[in-house]
Amino acid sequence: MESIRDEVNQALKDLIESEIESGAGEVAVEAGRVLNAGGKRLRPILFLLAYQLAGGTNIDDVMPLALAFELIHTATLVHDDINDEAQQRRGIPTIHAQAGQAKAVIAGDWLFVHGFALGGRYSEQIVTVIARCCANIAVSEYHQLDHVLNLATSPEDYLSIVRGKTAGPFASGCYAAGLVAGLDDEHARALERFGMELGIAFQLVDDLLDLRGDERMGKPRGADVYEGKMTLPLIHALTLSHGTHRTRLSELIENFSDDDFDELMALLERSSSMEYAEILVKTHLERAQEELQRFPDGQAKDMMMMITNIVKDRHA
Ligand code: IPE
Ligand code: IPE
Ligand code: MG
Ligand code: MG
Repeated sequence: MESIRDEVNQALKDLIESEIESGAGEVAVEAGRVLNAGGKRLRPILFLLAYQLAGGTNIDDVMPLALAFELIHTATLVHDDINDEAQQRRGIPTIHAQAGQAKAVIAGDWLFVHGFALGGRYSEQIVTVIARCCANIAVSEYHQLDHVLNLATSPEDYLSIVRGKTAGPFASGCYAAGLVAGLDDEHARALERFGMELGIAFQLVDDLLDLRGDERMGKPRGADVYEGKMTLPLIHALTLSHGTHRTRLSELIENFSDDDFDELMALLERSSSMEYAEILVKTHLERAQEELQRFPDGQAKDMMMMITNIVKDRHA
């Protein structure tokens, strides 16, 4: 896996360097700073593996697709951090913190455009898949904004947001990688379902890590709670709690501060809400693994299985 990650990292570095050489200047420097600050590269790695699992043998055929998704992913992070007023991303200062909001918006657009340029090299079918996936991110981000501090948010609302903003890109990338490898639609759809299940688990874990806090995340603990983001443990606890506990929980969510962590976690504990989210993580990962079973055994499958396990135990 390390060698695939190195290959992706090198290609991204080359892309930024060549843009700087052709005169892109500060926007390329700023975008490149976050792009190359050491993301996990989970999406491109998965798409390269999905291509191999699907029988593809020429990595050069799928690399632009994998890079396209990483550029688009990074673009959404740059824009997401503006909206969340996040100071840190991937362990370094965000673009808006460093260069101001106006430049950060443009740097995000710049990353999007370069992502689309790479994705645009493929067939109309695949370009449509990428475009739909990006449009769905926007739809879900709106949906998420409309649910900020909405204590009546349901698990279904949450899942629909997660499918659009996070799992959709995993699903679309795996599906498209299968098509690039020449897979028929039925089998490519299995890869799409794999990506969707894995992506849901990935976001659930991200939300759990935000609550528990881990300095390796490269951003402060509880950012989601400060933003009023209704993540599944909160939704679950609000549903199960009543009386004074329910009242206190709402107060904490609506007016969160650093001193409130222990109390919030104790209330989540009372309703086993972290465990509830953990069980869902396991269920979605098992479903992802089931989808892989229909593909032939080999290194790609082993590595994709391994990634489903890494997602469960990740710290960053
Ligand atoms: C962060 O994604 C945004 C979410 C969807 C939770 P990653 O955790 O994959 O971020 P990087 O790419 O490794 O920085
Ligand atoms: C990721 O969601 C944003 C997108 C997928 C566009 P989060 O808001 O949970 O990501 P982090 O927690 O800021 O990394
Ligand atoms: Mg965010
Ligand atoms: Mg998060």
